[in-house]
Amino acid sequence: MRLSGKTVLVTGAASGLGRGVATYFASHLDCNVIALDMGKEGLSTLEQEVGSDRIAGVQADVTERESVASALEAGVERFGAIDVCLNFAGVVSPVHIVARDGQGVELDRFARAVAVNLTGTFNVMAQCAGYMKRNREDENGERGVVVNIASAAAFDGQVGQAAYASSKAGVVGLSLPAARELARVGIRVNCIAPGAFDTPMLRSVPATVVDRIVETVQFPKRTGKIEEVAGLCVHLCENSYINGECIRLDAAMRMPPH
Ligand SMILES: NC(=O)c1ccc[n+]([C@@H]2O[C@H](COP(=O)([O-])OP(=O)(O)OC[C@H]3O[C@@H](n4cnc5c(N)ncnc54)[C@H](O)[C@@H]3O)[C@@H](O)[C@H]2O)c1
Repeated sequence: MRLSGKTVLVTGAASGLGRGVATYFASHLDCNVIALDMGKEGLSTLEQEVGSDRIAGVQADVTERESVASALEAGVERFGAIDVCLNFAGVVSPVHIVARDGQGVELDRFARAVAVNLTGTFNVMAQCAGYMKRNREDENGERGVVVNIASAAAFDGQVGQAAYASSKAGVVGLSLPAARELARVGIRVNCIAPGAFDTPMLRSVPATVVDRIVETVQFPKRTGKIEEVAGLCVHLCENSYINGECIRLDAAMRMPPH
């Protein structure tokens, strides 16, 4: 899909990777961006930074059907369509299977990770697909592109990541059947599993844990850069032959158990 003139929905756009990618698409490409997040303040500073002619902040909770429906409606009213959906909204939600304080099973924390990371991704993708299938197909028969954001934790989840890792493994598992189902309406679905990127989410993890993770990064031996995620999103949109795929973006990092 050629991105020039297209409208891109980015969730989790108030912070970290989603914010950086939303800024990249609005500033470096000829795209309109619908920036969706729960965080109102982050969205308004984003609009100020990028310029509200190119970006529309819409507040919504990805776990709620009606909340997302109203936000997408407002975005489409503003820019006329949704061509690309980039699902960055996510939460960490550390969980121990046997709770350390003896309080019992941490079911709420587990359910929260699944609700935001997996159900939220499904909710936004499904509602965006409803808009995309109305788009006129391009010269390749394409009407839309979805990129879901999983994590390296989907493959090498650490102790304490039972909720996060399994919710992200769900995102990987979601993407192929979605690509297969949406193929008939000309929508491609791919998935990125990022390694370690320096964002507020990574900063919420204890520094000793992050150091041990970054130690397993092979080359280049550093955390990832926003433009490396943005660049892969652009490629997944532009390369029509990549479909139903999950790509690890982690410089050959493999996370240790702790
Ligand atoms: N930073 C990393 O190293 C890393 C690694 C692997 C995967 N990821 C994934 O990348 C994505 C972005 O992570 P980040 O590091 O930028 O995190 P972040 O915490 O900086 O940003 C996450 C954003 O999601 C939003 N969000 C959370 N729950 C929401 C909800 N219910 N509805 C709407 N918005 C909601 C938050 O408000 C926040 O703006 C996440 O899905 C994360 O799991 C990040």
